[in-house]
Amino acid sequence: QNNAKVAVLGASGGIGQPLSLLLKNSPLVSRLSLYDIAHTPGVAADLSHIETRASVKGFLGPEQLPECLKGCDVVVIPAGVPRKPGMTRDDLFNTNASIVATLTSACAKHCPEAMICIISNPVNSTIPITAEVFKKHGVYNPNRIFGVTTLDIVRANTFVAELKGLDPARVSVPVIGGHAGKTIIPLISQCTPKVDFPQDQLEKLTGRIQEAGTEVVKAKAGAGSATLSMAYAGARFVFSLVDAMNGKEGVIECAFVQSKETESPYFSTPLLLGKNGIEKNLGIGKISPFEEKMIAEAMSELKASIKKGEDFAKNFK
Ligand SMILES: NC(=O)c1ccc[n+]([C@@H]2O[C@H](COP(=O)([O-])OP(=O)(O)OC[C@H]3O[C@@H](n4cnc5c(N)ncnc54)[C@H](O)[C@@H]3O)[C@@H](O)[C@H]2O)c1
Repeated sequence: QNNAKVAVLGASGGIGQPLSLLLKNSPLVSRLSLYDIAHTPGVAADLSHIETRASVKGFLGPEQLPECLKGCDVVVIPAGVPRKPGMTRDDLFNTNASIVATLTSACAKHCPEAMICIISNPVNSTIPITAEVFKKHGVYNPNRIFGVTTLDIVRANTFVAELKGLDPARVSVPVIGGHAGKTIIPLISQCTPKVDFPQDQLEKLTGRIQEAGTEVVKAKAGAGSATLSMAYAGARFVFSLVDAMNGKEGVIECAFVQSKETESPYFSTPLLLGKNGIEKNLGIGKISPFEEKMIAEAMSELKASIKKGEDFAKNFK
């Protein structure tokens, strides 16, 4: 059943292009629809020469968006502006909120059943925006809307592996909460294999995971934020989702979703994925007092970012 029809919205960007390459390279994908407001004819022509099965088509500008979305199983959205040095993810709100609201309105109209994976920041607000847009159209299904936080997990795995001399591919750290600064909560106590750090090293590691995006923004010095590692993480999430949709059992990924696990109406925790998206929210599980404190400290920022997104969506025409 390796037959997923996947659309990438924002396909010409720093994330969109390498993400589309990874999707084109996968036997799980049979149709790749690439949408952007610039350059998609070129990106699509280029990718279409790769000797893999997926058919590739480019769609340019709003009038071609409906055609792009029709029949899609999964829509991945990395459209929008990235951070420059000194900016927080929330500084992107004014530009990206309307881009996400516009694109997800089109999804609600033209592929209401598709799995929607949002990469565009601030994820803590763009997921509530997407949920409100789908509610407005009367097609909301919370099991099918995901804020992609996979890069936080990928980074946590890599950094733990570096410190402990392990193969990163065999390290698994759940990262819960949200996707900005202090709301990014790595659960090192739940790492497999089990790892131990003295408290000062644990705090330094946690801080590095929370600020890893900023590490890249600074290193790129004005040329944007993480694109290649984000493309990898986005592809990892989409492949997990498609595997689960194809009936593979035991597929688990963390993502920022509607949630009853804490007092925050959206929260990332490990999710068991299935044919219809989220099959079961696996919750927070057993955590350390240090991790409990981080959750408590993240709540006010999380709830404020969520409310900002919801308020925006309610007034969006
Ligand atoms: N979730 C995460 O972990 C994570 C990680 C890194 C970056 N991001 C976010 O991903 C987003 C994209 O980053 P990037 O580095 O690829 O940026 P980029 O500027 O390189 O690319 C963005 C693309 O979006 C397109 N675009 C703009 N408005 C559009 C619209 N209305 N419809 C369709 N496409 C539109 C642009 O033409 C461009 O091709 C940013 O918001 C960034 O903050 C998220």
